[in-house]
Amino acid sequence: MPTSVLTFSEKKQRHEKIVVITAYDALTAALVNGAGVDAILVGDSAGMVFAGHDTTLPVTMDEMLYHTRSVVRGARSAFVIADMPFLSYQCGHDEAVRNAGRFLKEAGAQAVKLEGSDPGLVARLVGIGIPVMGHLGLTPQSVHALGGFRAQGKTMESAARLIEQAKALDIAGCFSIVLECVPTSLAARVTETVRAATIGIGAGVACDGQVSVVNDLLGLSTGYVPRHAKRYADFYNEGLAAVRSYVEEVRSGAFPSAEHSIEAPQGSGRTATSTSGIDPTSR
Ligand code: KIV
Repeated sequence: MPTSVLTFSEKKQRHEKIVVITAYDALTAALVNGAGVDAILVGDSAGMVFAGHDTTLPVTMDEMLYHTRSVVRGARSAFVIADMPFLSYQCGHDEAVRNAGRFLKEAGAQAVKLEGSDPGLVARLVGIGIPVMGHLGLTPQSVHALGGFRAQGKTMESAARLIEQAKALDIAGCFSIVLECVPTSLAARVTETVRAATIGIGAGVACDGQVSVVNDLLGLSTGYVPRHAKRYADFYNEGLAAVRSYVEEVRSGAFPSAEHSIEAPQGSGRTATSTSGIDPTSR
């Protein structure tokens, strides 16, 4: 059964954990889909881990549409959620509705994610059939207002505010809410208070599910890795070793060997085609 918004509420009720991973391209989407995730988040973290920016702020609608279309082509059964980039939903509800709709209409996503608390906008999107995932706690698009990528909800006051925001998003109709970098006890409190499925990242084990940035999980990054991220592989260093071998072999003449070369059939002259029928001079 393909995942839908109903999967989120059903799994929450059954106390089955929901697994979400980010992806930004078709191949990675196929990989995480093949591993059996419930949903793929086309996060605007693409701006940092894919495009090399320091924050998610420069990410545009066109870039997110491109990433989302690519992910949808690679994801066979996982539910695809597109992250709305900075300034695509903060400048008025009409513009936000149009931009959110583009992710479903032009890119094939099944839901959108919005940072922060705008229950009026969530209700309007849900009302016209666009499922919304909320995102509270450390909301990276507010990095400058928050004074950096810092944990949130650590004081009684900020924890109480976050619970109120979560309740408001829940009433407005979010099917799920990401809780990023908040204390485990606060995430547990939100999880038992709202109907929406909570998806944690740096928010402890009590959430209804977890989301991880795929590059962190695969060890496919060079810079800072957040404390909450766990590496399950070392793709960067394995890739580095492979490319170093290639560099050495090209320089030494060990590559290409006969195995990776095309020989003309005996006596066929200079314009032979390969056994595959492809003219070797055409590529
Ligand atoms: O952009 C993203 O990848 C996210 C997740 C970290 C939740 O928002």
